[in-house]
Parts: sequence; C-alpha cells; structure tokens
Amino acid sequence: MLLRADTITALAVVAGIGLAVQSDVASSPADVSMAAAHEPVSFSAEVMPILEKYCWECHSESNTELGLRLDTYEGLMAGSDYGTVVEAGDPSGSLLIDMVESGDMPEEGDPVSPEELEILKTWIAEGAENN
Ligand code: HEC
Repeated sequence: MLLRADTITALAVVAGIGLAVQSDVASSPADVSMAAAHEPVSFSAEVMPILEKYCWECHSESNTELGLRLDTYEGLMAGSDYGTVVEAGDPSGSLLIDMVESGDMPEEGDPVSPEELEILKTWIAEGAENN
C-alpha cells in the first residue's frame, strides 16, 4: 500500500493525533502509517487471556478429564477426543466459535463479550498462528 505523504499526514491528524503529539517517533510518516495499519491478532497477548478468563476453569491442566485443553496452543489445536475445535482460516467452521457464539461455552459463568468473540474469530481467520 502506497500512501502519499499528505494523505498520511491527514490520516495522522484524524486517527493518530494523540499518538503523534505524545511521541516524536510517531510523528514521522512511516511510523504513523505503521500505527494506522492493521496488526494481526496476537495469540499470546490477546487470545490466551480470553481463554484464561472464561475457559481454563474446565479446560486446562488442572481439569483434563474433558480431553480439551485450552491453556496451551498445542492443546487448542489438537482439539478433543471428538476432533479439532479450531479450523485455521475458517472461524465459522470452527467448533470453538460455534460453541461460544451459541452461548454453549463457557458452560458456567459470564458469556464471552462480542468484542472478545471478534478477537477469537479474527485470530482464526488470520490463520490461527502461534504468534
Ligand atoms: C464450567 C466448565 C466449563 C467452562 C468454563 C468451559 N467449558 Fe467447554 N466444555 C465443558 C464441558 C463439560 C464440555 C463437554 C460437553 C459435552 O461434551 O457436551 C465442554 C466442551 C467444549 C467443547 C467441545 C469439544 C469437546 O471436547 O466436547 C468446546 C469447543 C469447548 N468446550 C470450548 C470452550 C471454550 C472456548 C470455553 C471458554 C470460552 C469453555 N469451553 C469453557 C465445560 C466447560
């Protein structure tokens, strides 16, 4: 994507003015366009905390009888005795998304918020990487 310098400046004014005034680095056009660009969802920084908050009570090292562990990347991708729960690149074909979207999971406790569900879906759509 090529952006003209004046376009970048305009974007910076609209979207990043707080960032630009707070940091000299961010006011250079290259850094502003980086900040405005879409960053992939991070498994470790964004997905794991959601699973920890809602799922580890029943799907983790301390509770292995269900056969589905959601406290490691490997566990998540391995799925359960019934098969995979994450289809990389295909959120709507992923059982995990199905179950969260329908409200079946978490089986107890607060439901996953729409914003958090979106993070899970985007991460899967982007290839479900261990990033
Ligand atoms: C209070 C306990 C509990 C919590 C919390 C919980 N689960 Fe489950 N989960 C279960 C049980 C019990 C089953 C097995 C249910 C069944 O087979 O019908 C299950 C099954 C599943 C399955 C189907 C695969 C399988 O092994 O049958 C998926 C996918 C799943 N859970 C995802 C999640 C996700 C994602 C979260 C967090 C957002 C979550 N669960 C939170 C208890 C829980």
